[in-house]
Amino acid sequence: MSSDELAWALAEAARSEALVSQDIASMTPYSPGRPWRAVAAELGVPADELLMLHANENPLGPSPKAKAAAARHLEEAHVYPDGGGTLLREKLAERHQVPVESICLGNGSNELIEMLVRTFVGHGETVVTAWPSFVVYRLAAQAAGREVLFAPLRNERYDLATMASLVDRRTKLVFIANPNNPTGTYVTKRQLAAFLDRIPRSVIVVLDEAYFEYAVADDYPNGLVDFRGHPRLVVLRTFSKIYGLAGLRIGYGVMDPTMVHYLDCVRQPYNVNSVAQAAAVAALDDEDHLRTSVQTVRDGLAELEKGLGALGLQVVPSQANFLLVRLEREAAPIVSQLRAKGILVRDMRGYDLPTTIRLTVGTRAMNLRVLSAIEQALEDSL
Ligand SMILES: Cc1ncc(COP(=O)(O)O)c(C=O)c1O
Repeated sequence: MSSDELAWALAEAARSEALVSQDIASMTPYSPGRPWRAVAAELGVPADELLMLHANENPLGPSPKAKAAAARHLEEAHVYPDGGGTLLREKLAERHQVPVESICLGNGSNELIEMLVRTFVGHGETVVTAWPSFVVYRLAAQAAGREVLFAPLRNERYDLATMASLVDRRTKLVFIANPNNPTGTYVTKRQLAAFLDRIPRSVIVVLDEAYFEYAVADDYPNGLVDFRGHPRLVVLRTFSKIYGLAGLRIGYGVMDPTMVHYLDCVRQPYNVNSVAQAAAVAALDDEDHLRTSVQTVRDGLAELEKGLGALGLQVVPSQANFLLVRLEREAAPIVSQLRAKGILVRDMRGYDLPTTIRLTVGTRAMNLRVLSAIEQALEDSL
C-alpha cells in the first residue's frame, strides 16, 4: 500500500469511527527512524562511520560481561524466559535494598510507562506531566484514551509548582522525568519533597530516572533512597542508557508491592526476554564499564560545552548523557547538513523546540567530529 493509500484508508476509518476510538485516530505513531545500516547505505557512509547522536545511547556499547552472558543465553532461546525475572529482580532488590516484590521488569521502561497508565488510570481520570518532556508519557495516555495535562517547562526546567496546581480530583498519575529528556535539566530533592507534600496521597507519582547514573549534582535526588517508602511513588530505571542495552529492551520499576501485583495482572506473562534478563544481570556486575561510561559522558559534556561555546552557541546545562544546543535559528537545515555528513542528531521540531538540536555525548573522537561538522554547517548556512 502506498503512503497516499494508507492516509486515505486511515481517514476513512477514522471518519466511520468503526475501526478505532477518536483518541487513537488522533494519534501519529512514534517515529523510530530508519534502521541505521539503511541510513548509512543511503548516505553512502560506511556503517561504522555513521555517528549516531540522536537516541542517547551509550557510545561505548554494552559491557563485555553483558555481551558474553547474552551470547550464552542464546543457546536457550527455545525455552520461554523466566516470567518472574527472578535472578534480575533479586539482584536489583539487593542492590537497592528493597523487597523483591517491589520490583517489576518491563520491555524497556517504555513498557512500564504504558502499563502504569493502562493499569492505574481509569475512565475519567487524568495524567499530569510537563512539556517538552518524554513524548511516550503522552502517547501512552492517548493510546489508553486518557486525558493528559501539561505544565510548560520554565527556563527549560520542570515547574513543579505549576504541575501541582494542575493536580485535581481527577488526577491519577503524574510523570516526572528526572533528569528531563530533552533538556537534561533536573528537579532538586527539596523541590520534589515539596511537590510530594503538596499533592494528595491518592496520586501516583512516576519518577522516571532513565538517566540517573549520569547525574552528579549534589542536590539531585535518588528516588529510591530519598523518598523510600512513599506509598505512591514509582521509580523507573532502564538498562538502555548507561548499561548500553537499548536493543534488548529492558527496564524496571520500583514501587509498593501492591502496585507490582496489579501490574503483574496486566503485563504479558513473558514480557522480558531471557537474553535481556541475563545481559542485565551481568551488566550490574560490571562496575568498571559503568565508571568508564559515566566518565566518558562527564568529560564529553565539558568538551562539547567548551567547543560549542567557542562557536558562539549556548547549551542547556545537562545532568544526562545529552545536550540541548540552542542554535538561535531554524535547526532543520543544520540537522540535514550533519546527516549528509553521516552524523545523526535529534531534530527537536516534534518537541516544539525548532531552534535547538539534541546531541548525545560521545567519545572524544565522536565529539570532535560533531563539533567540526557543526562549525562547518554554521559557516555554510551564513
Ligand atoms: C526520560 C526517558 N524515559 C524512558 C526512556 C525509555 O527507555 P527504554 O529504552 O527503557 O524504554 C527514555 C528513552 O529515551 C527516556 O528518555
